[in-house]
Amino acid sequence: MATVTFDKATRVYPGSTKPAVDALDIEIADGEFLVLVGPSGCGKSTSLRMLAGLEDVNGGAIRIGDRDVTHLPPKDRDIAMVFQNYALYPHMSVADNMGFALKIAGVNKAEIRQKVEEAAKILDLTEYLDRKPKALSGGQRQRVAMGRAIVREPQVFLMDEPLSNLDAKLRVSTRTQIASLQRRLGITTVYVTHDQVEALTMGDRVAVLKDGLLQQVDTPRNMYDKPANLFVAGFIGSPAMNLIEVPIADGGVKFGNSVVPVQRDALSATSDKTVTVGVRPEHFDVAGADSDQGVAVTVNVVEELGSDAFVYGTAQVGGEAKDIVVRVGGRDVPEKGSELHVVPRSGETHVFSTSTGARLSD
Ligand SMILES: Nc1ncnc2c1ncn2[C@@H]1O[C@H](COP(=O)(O)OP(=O)(O)OP(=O)(O)O)[C@@H](O)[C@H]1O
Ligand SMILES: [Mg+2]
Repeated sequence: MATVTFDKATRVYPGSTKPAVDALDIEIADGEFLVLVGPSGCGKSTSLRMLAGLEDVNGGAIRIGDRDVTHLPPKDRDIAMVFQNYALYPHMSVADNMGFALKIAGVNKAEIRQKVEEAAKILDLTEYLDRKPKALSGGQRQRVAMGRAIVREPQVFLMDEPLSNLDAKLRVSTRTQIASLQRRLGITTVYVTHDQVEALTMGDRVAVLKDGLLQQVDTPRNMYDKPANLFVAGFIGSPAMNLIEVPIADGGVKFGNSVVPVQRDALSATSDKTVTVGVRPEHFDVAGADSDQGVAVTVNVVEELGSDAFVYGTAQVGGEAKDIVVRVGGRDVPEKGSELHVVPRSGETHVFSTSTGARLSD
């Protein structure tokens, strides 16, 4: 078991001037499940591959425990990696696939068998050990790939989108299995995904990357409640947070016909005339139909989920038509084409600088 430290780790690919990963700074605790998340091309795989030793580090350092591994070859790092395309050997049984790395390492047969059987038990694969991969479901194959990593008893697990070959339903059940397995084994894990829901549900902490730059590293709760900037605010949460540029008014911000109080400090922190206010869909109060409070939202589409519903509408804010998403109760669903007056709930607004994107409220 071990900690993992990215110490201003930087990767510049040959022929490029801009780093793919730019001074990445993260300290991962022993036994922690850390998820790297961000849009395509933001540097997730590159970060993981630097930790694995598959990619040169052009600046900064990487440590596993107290060992500086920055320039160590992959085989000396004591890590095991599960990729998106976890090619299993088709001619080998499940047991031989799982024990292959140990066989290469010269471990004796009896010990390999024992480790494979242990891993198979954990992964619920015992009855499939003699089968060939083609006789397994996608989810079972994915577990064999996990098994190959587990038998090596590494200090660190690295996983790069290991669930992306699975269908939606299997992804959801497998992500719970992986998360609970990781907690049971207690092995420090760095997990890459572009799916923010996967990140929030699996990680002890989540690190959001954009254009090679770390935006925020935090617990899922804090990431949702206090996004550090406009990018994280828009990226984390589904449907996304409403981000609306509004004028600063006396005692708050002007939201349509209402002045919504926001933290005083947040507004004094900027010299701009406007700020961008973030409101999650579940944080609007819906005023009566004849109310003149807040802003009027014309309902375009209603997505009913049974327990609640998401209203996708358009509102005129500052002379511009803005898309707004509002969560309402499943039993108070407005008609398409009707009008809804909404006001952000006091204490549930996020204030960001429109010019820099930085969070202004605490
Ligand atoms: N071998 C390479 N040579 C040059 N540039 C590369 C190489 N591999 C990746 N890049 C570039 O580095 C950046 C980061 O790539 P990376 O693969 O780390 O992104 P990612 O976050 O894993 O994306 P995805 O979600 O699509 O897998 C991208 O702009 C990519 O084009
Ligand atoms: Mg990738």
